[in-house]
Amino acid sequence: MKNDRSRISVEFLGKRAATPLVLPAGIMGMTWSGMKYTWENGCGIITSKSLTMEPRKGHAGPVIAEFEGGMLNCMGLCNPGIEEGLAEVNEFRKFYEVPVIVSIFATTIDDFLTLTQKVNESRGDFVELNLSCPNVSDEYGLPLAASKIKVAEIVSAVKMVSKIPVIAKLSPNVSGLTEICTAAEAAGADALCLINTLGPGMLIDIDLQRSVLSNRTGGMSGPCVKPVALRAVFEAYSRVKIPIIGTGGVSNGRDAVEMLMAGASLVGVGSALYEGGIGIFEQINQDILTYMDQYGYGTITDIPRLEKM
Ligand code: FUM
Repeated sequence: MKNDRSRISVEFLGKRAATPLVLPAGIMGMTWSGMKYTWENGCGIITSKSLTMEPRKGHAGPVIAEFEGGMLNCMGLCNPGIEEGLAEVNEFRKFYEVPVIVSIFATTIDDFLTLTQKVNESRGDFVELNLSCPNVSDEYGLPLAASKIKVAEIVSAVKMVSKIPVIAKLSPNVSGLTEICTAAEAAGADALCLINTLGPGMLIDIDLQRSVLSNRTGGMSGPCVKPVALRAVFEAYSRVKIPIIGTGGVSNGRDAVEMLMAGASLVGVGSALYEGGIGIFEQINQDILTYMDQYGYGTITDIPRLEKM
């Protein structure tokens, strides 16, 4: 019983995840081999890098900077484009029965629809609408997730064409996040992913007398964002009925249990990989099992959620 891994397996939108851990978009989900490596090491669901209509180089380096509370990134949505990105997903899914979320990014409804139609033809299990990248506002203006009207328009349009469940990935860098979550749900989203990176933030190299990141600012992730992520997940959980992937600052099993208690069905682990390496997934799985044993919970869904607001 103690180490029975089925105890932490989770049913999510009709698919079975071997563990509650999700690889969020942007981290090792670019190639089939990265997906395989992540899954072999204890991740339950894998998200691809956000894919766009055309390949994107992203910003010039440096695009990642660490600081005491976490890290900043200004990747700029570098990706091989939808065709090549889906080829990697297909290659992985051909051999492995592991759910994959295909993340897509666009700035118009038409492009979101074209991308979704391409995802329909792939082996992807879910489509995630990245409405919240903070690193391309110089090109495209405010993230779409800043407007509940735009979120609702895109989600409902995509729902009309998608053959697989639709997840809306939203931003913490907005006012009225819970209203945006309820707008996504009302428009038909099957699940939410909260949160994308915080900020954006900035670091300055006082010797070089310039910003550390090439793009000056970047989305903040790592331990410092955990309280914001927990608050966002808990507020959303209090208001919506659809499941939530809770991601942001989770670095160990206790963080993961906090995220579950806040109301998440699945827990994203991203930036912690930089510090903890690939072994972090298995460590977190084991920590969750240890916590369950300590409190006598048979399965992961026995871990209690906080009372809703
Ligand atoms: O810049 C990036 O590629 C980050 C994407 C995101 O945070 O959604």
